[in-house]
Amino acid sequence: MSDDFKLSKGGANHQEPRGDDDVMTTAQGAPVADDQNWLTAGPRGPQLVEDQVAREKIFHFDHERIPERVVHARGYGVHGHFELKKAIPEYSRAAIFNEVGVKTPTFTRFSTVAGNKGSPDLARDVRGFATKFYTREGNWDLVGNNIPVFFIQDAIKFPDLIHAAKPAPDRGFPQAQTAHDNFWDFISLSPESMNMVMWIMSDRTIPRSFRFMEGFGVHTFRLVNEKGEAHFVKFHWKPRLGLQSVIWNEALKVNGMDPDFHRRDMWDAIEAGDFPQWDLGIQVFDEEFAEQFEFDVLDATKIIPEEQVPVEIIGTLTLDANVDNFFAETEQVAFCTQNIVPGIDFTEDPLLQGRNFSYLDTQLKRLGSPNFTHIPINAPKCPVRHFQQDGHMAMHNPKGRANYEPNSWGDTDKPNEGRGPRACPERGFTSYPADVGGPKVRVRSETFADHYSQARQFYVSQTPVEQTHMANALTFELSKVERMDIRKRMIGHLRHIDEGLAQEVADGIGLEQLPEKVPAAREPITDLPESPALSIVRN
Ligand code: HEM
Repeated sequence: MSDDFKLSKGGANHQEPRGDDDVMTTAQGAPVADDQNWLTAGPRGPQLVEDQVAREKIFHFDHERIPERVVHARGYGVHGHFELKKAIPEYSRAAIFNEVGVKTPTFTRFSTVAGNKGSPDLARDVRGFATKFYTREGNWDLVGNNIPVFFIQDAIKFPDLIHAAKPAPDRGFPQAQTAHDNFWDFISLSPESMNMVMWIMSDRTIPRSFRFMEGFGVHTFRLVNEKGEAHFVKFHWKPRLGLQSVIWNEALKVNGMDPDFHRRDMWDAIEAGDFPQWDLGIQVFDEEFAEQFEFDVLDATKIIPEEQVPVEIIGTLTLDANVDNFFAETEQVAFCTQNIVPGIDFTEDPLLQGRNFSYLDTQLKRLGSPNFTHIPINAPKCPVRHFQQDGHMAMHNPKGRANYEPNSWGDTDKPNEGRGPRACPERGFTSYPADVGGPKVRVRSETFADHYSQARQFYVSQTPVEQTHMANALTFELSKVERMDIRKRMIGHLRHIDEGLAQEVADGIGLEQLPEKVPAAREPITDLPESPALSIVRN
């Protein structure tokens, strides 16, 4: 194993001051005699622009802020490692899935979605669960959530969803923990979000801490083995501590008393040596299953129930070190669904494909340069060689004369010197040759049209207490919506999911008559079996 592929976080990730001299210097390294008094013309005179020490100090301070993430702005990052317990060469050629016992360094960032960087931790919101695996074949990012489904099927709707969820443009409120008309207006006009709505109204969106949450890759990905054979896969994180949530009243109190509750919990646990662990599970299935399954496996608003395809545990993530510097690591880390390694591949999931574009794009704006992979927290821990060069803040450029290919440097008198890296068909990433032909259209496949069956399956799989929490959450949220037509439209959706739930919420918000059902693109399957794995309370 190369020295680069090491577990220690010290120095490798933290952008530390250089040198061990304790004399303060300017950013140019010149020793500073006084950094508390600006040079003035006389003791009571005006400040002099000449003062290079003061000017540099203020200049740098003025530019400390970078844009917060457009979503998932509030987050908390932790170092750790992933250890493979079970090799899966039959499914994937990726080294990370074949070297049992090897500890791959990781960085995980937990987050809320809608709130800004300073918002409270206990908001009712989806939690991000993003992990960067620094594998010896490059970085693999599993950029997931604590909920296995998503609001929308197509990435083109993402800006609308997020605009509706964030504070309204005119009034600038509310934040994530209170309901609002824009959000429920969008949701009630987007039947595909109904499964996710059931999940966000459940206790899953008010976790007790990050340590008690599941995580999901959400999309169906592909695993590809040495022979080039592919299987579909869903990724799951199972917390060793089990699943726990708070109830809404507790969430409100915690938010008031300690808005940093979740990040403090993680920091304290790690400082105490109480390292949280998650098992990585996979659900693997083939084309044949995919075709017979009730739903389209490319539709990110659907799960594959664990009762139908059991989750197979293959390894463990241990989070064992807090960051040395929040900005350098947690703020500058850049996850991207596009970061995969040989043996893992995408599918044609239209949400995943859009994400692959979006993250890189936003990170250029957020971090300011295409060279953000040179920042230690984003840099792979394996050899990195290519002909990309220059740009703002370039830390690594091609060595020697050759910065293009094909080139013939080194071919003659000094083989292997000076020609730079070469693509390697044997070891390199090759896309799975999925058959994807077809006419150009802007129509979602009919196989994505059932929006209620799994929403119902989720609801009926909850314990009675959990169901009550959901009804209470819906009642609370919809009671905050001012427009009656939006409230009624939501009840019109709930009637497809469960008539009892629809009635309970309608009563709760004071509707005298149950509104009409919203016309359904496809009638729900009402006899899907219960899926106990969907409940937090698993006896
Ligand atoms: C950020 C998850 C859908 C765009 C994030 C983060 C997570 C996440 C966990 C935070 C990463 C971090 O900690 O830095 C998901 C999941 C999705 C989803 C699970 C659906 C399955 C989308 C879609 C888009 C999108 C459809 C756009 C089309 C973004 C952007 C960021 C982000 C722009 C900010 C990235 C940055 O500034 O570094 N997402 N997301 N996401 N997501 Fe998503």
